[in-house]
Amino acid sequence: MSKEEIKSFIKNSENAEKVHEFFCPYRVCPLGAHVDHQLGLVTGFAIDKGTKFSFFEADNCEVEVYSENFEGSALGNFNEEYERQYTWADYLFAAAYVLRKSYILTKGVKGVVSGAVLGGGLSSSASVLLTYLKALAFVNDINLTSVELLNLALDAERNFIGVNVGKLDQSCEIFSRKNNLLYLDTKTDSAKLIKIPESMPDFEIAVIFSGLERKLAGSAYNMRVDECKAASYALKGFAHIEYGKFADSFLRDVPYGVFLQYRDRLPANWAKRADHFYSENERVKKGVKAFQSGDLKEFGRLIFESGRSSIEKYETGSDELKVLQDIMEDTDGIYGGRFSGAGFNGCAMAIVDPAKKDAAEKKIRSEYLKRFPELSSRFNIVFCRTADGIS
Ligand code: GLA
Repeated sequence: MSKEEIKSFIKNSENAEKVHEFFCPYRVCPLGAHVDHQLGLVTGFAIDKGTKFSFFEADNCEVEVYSENFEGSALGNFNEEYERQYTWADYLFAAAYVLRKSYILTKGVKGVVSGAVLGGGLSSSASVLLTYLKALAFVNDINLTSVELLNLALDAERNFIGVNVGKLDQSCEIFSRKNNLLYLDTKTDSAKLIKIPESMPDFEIAVIFSGLERKLAGSAYNMRVDECKAASYALKGFAHIEYGKFADSFLRDVPYGVFLQYRDRLPANWAKRADHFYSENERVKKGVKAFQSGDLKEFGRLIFESGRSSIEKYETGSDELKVLQDIMEDTDGIYGGRFSGAGFNGCAMAIVDPAKKDAAEKKIRSEYLKRFPELSSRFNIVFCRTADGIS
């Protein structure tokens, strides 16, 4: 079939029973940046923008999927060996690859995928993977629990796509609920939903695209993870703590007191990464308390602080995102903001007072584009609300 034929099959009301649609939101992480891979504490909101996949079942593991956003196609058969394309098509085959470790697939899918185009840093990759996993499980009559879905998506991202991510993105996109903040301990997996208190002022979530796309694979993301792990291993060694395997060593295992005692013996960069880890965990705890008590100002202040720590201690954030950080901090109506996700270009997020959002948008746009006029056709601000996880 061609793309047009697949689209008209989906649209045709006679096929309504055969055609299915899954939606998975993107996420923002107000507090808890770059600590999930060290088993830290994180917070998140799913937002009301995400990936939509309209599909129908195909026999014999056949696959034919097109994208509304990108050129090309995901074509093939799950029974045949797949050669990585390094394009969006890999994500569908990544989902099949991990599912097949535990299940037999007999069906494939044909369909069209589309994603809200907001720029990187909102975890669209986890969103698309989760959508495909759900769709493939659905056509193959596999019932996945939420935890299984999470672990499969992680496996696909780490072992097929090749980025050593933590659980933040997948957790937010599965467990979030509208009007709630998700608070997750990535060591114990205990997740809490904190309902927005009635006393809290109304807010919207601004997603601000720097105009430059982001890519995690090939970025310094994996190197930062290694720096954190190396710091944890060295600290355990200095303190004569049983250190086990390097792969299983995380900063969360190292008490803060041990870090303080041996900080100066660490290479300066490793010490800075650990500074970020311990301070971010504290900000998450304080931020959750502030959120619970309806104190949006304090919650926002901590988000700004988190952004600064990511820039100064964790040393992520492109030149453009650093300028955005300065502008957001100086804009009336923004409670707090920081770059969203890993910070290698892509988007920033901000918690915004809806009554002041137009003026804030105007100011951010004009100041940012004064600095980077060449990005004017790509720069973008979109306002979102919180949303439910994958449906
Ligand atoms: C990316 C990763 C997440 C997390 C964030 C930074 O989005 O996929 O696991 O580490 O960066 O907080």
